[in-house]
Amino acid sequence: MSKPQLSESHHPRPQWKSRMGFILAAIGSAVGLGNIWRFSYLCYKNGGGAFLIPYTIALLVVGIPLMILELGIGHKMRGAAPLSFAKIDRRWEWCGWWAVVCAMYGIMLYYSAVISWCLSYVFYSFNLSWGDDPNDFFFNKFLQLSSGPLQIGDIRTPIIIALALVWFLCWLIVYFGVQKGVERANKIFMPLLFALTLILVIWSVNLKGAFSGIVVYLKPNFSLLSEPQIWIDAFSQIFFTLSLAFGIMIAYASYLPRKVDIVKDAFIICVGNCMYSFIAGFAVFGTLGYMATTTNQPVADVVKESIGLAFVAYPQAISLMPAFAKIFGVLFFTSLVIAGLSSAISLVEAFSSAVLDKFNYPRNTVVTFVCVSGFVGSIIFTAKSGLYWVDIVDHFITHYGLVIIGILECVAIGWIFKAKKLREHMIAAGGTFLHGSLWDICVKYVTPIILIGLLVKDFWTEITTAYEGYPWLAILLIGRDWLVVALFAALLLSMRRWKKEVVETINSKNHH
Ligand code: TRP
Repeated sequence: MSKPQLSESHHPRPQWKSRMGFILAAIGSAVGLGNIWRFSYLCYKNGGGAFLIPYTIALLVVGIPLMILELGIGHKMRGAAPLSFAKIDRRWEWCGWWAVVCAMYGIMLYYSAVISWCLSYVFYSFNLSWGDDPNDFFFNKFLQLSSGPLQIGDIRTPIIIALALVWFLCWLIVYFGVQKGVERANKIFMPLLFALTLILVIWSVNLKGAFSGIVVYLKPNFSLLSEPQIWIDAFSQIFFTLSLAFGIMIAYASYLPRKVDIVKDAFIICVGNCMYSFIAGFAVFGTLGYMATTTNQPVADVVKESIGLAFVAYPQAISLMPAFAKIFGVLFFTSLVIAGLSSAISLVEAFSSAVLDKFNYPRNTVVTFVCVSGFVGSIIFTAKSGLYWVDIVDHFITHYGLVIIGILECVAIGWIFKAKKLREHMIAAGGTFLHGSLWDICVKYVTPIILIGLLVKDFWTEITTAYEGYPWLAILLIGRDWLVVALFAALLLSMRRWKKEVVETINSKNHH
């Protein structure tokens, strides 16, 4: 850590060594399985090119304004999400806890399981274990998928071993501290990942028939835009992919030096992340075009279950290749693991710093506790019903948790703290707003109103049709209760007493 600087609360808060270190770490958090696995499957499910339109709109009306908001509030309040919210108003603290608890003990648990699937596939790539039926291999041999979410089934040994490795790596990286750990990890991971992806893209767009896939990817189908589902998917994907409403960006911004151009950095992170998804999409759709041509099917029929796209389409394409198939496979799945890990460590970091802001525990104990409990909690996703659980928890936390937290952030900052005051703080710190009041309008009206509209529509669909036809019992017990328990935990955490050093900064009004 560089020389500890005194923060407002007179306790030392470490800082990023360089602006580049911060941007790399933020992009490292944003770029993850969401860009490759989740983005491409949502794109495929929602008609390819048609998805790019709501996705871009979501980036503009929610992604960028909320990124500026999260970086701004973290920088202003110099704390992770709960401390930042508590400084706005003690009664809003639970909101910060809900964000970090949902992310850590919701998203992170299944996300680490998906990383462990990728890790397993790195090893399977060495001898192309999936043979010529990757569909059968993924669902029946690898996952040994049970018949429904309530038929939990045994734990899959290869997956739990990979999972333990994933958590161990997370622990190892975070244990060594904000800069030594996160910054160094990202300096290696990010360039490597971009290089790997670029190789994949160049490789796959040159495959025979790739063009037909690219056409599906780039040609918008405007008639699909009347489907509400495509909009909801796009907006919740923007939250997921930019790590918004996770408390991550707030925590990262709290380690920024005083003088910083938050607006510019927010643009770089958002645009960089979404461009990356867009570029990686060429590899996916190029490969799909190749498969469609070689198997004589329309692109839309190549993969039956869109959620399995990355684990069915890629292995299929890889084994269809005449040469270098194994290297291609190892490279692809390694890049997925790297992308996932750098997102995961950002969350362990954000959650730990939220706890450390409030309680006087040793940092290393907290990090170890978080990783061990995270590992234990994610074991359920390694059972034979794991895929269904991933699907349900992902649906509820991204569609409701993230969106509701996004709305609450707009209200807390836009109306209670006041958007204008935060903007003035960011300008004083060196932020360049071109049309500043535009941001205020977004945060106060546009963003929350759109999100509330989507939420209401989504909720209506939810109560009228069982998600993906799962049994209601599973939906309520797994999806709804996961959110409710997280909320309950957040309320309990927010009722605990703050450690002495920070309590006066919360009560004092000098940050106002
Ligand atoms: N933005 C990440 C992605 O696109 C998602 C993510 C960020 C995440 N941090 C995380 C997921 C922590 C789980 C845990 O993949």
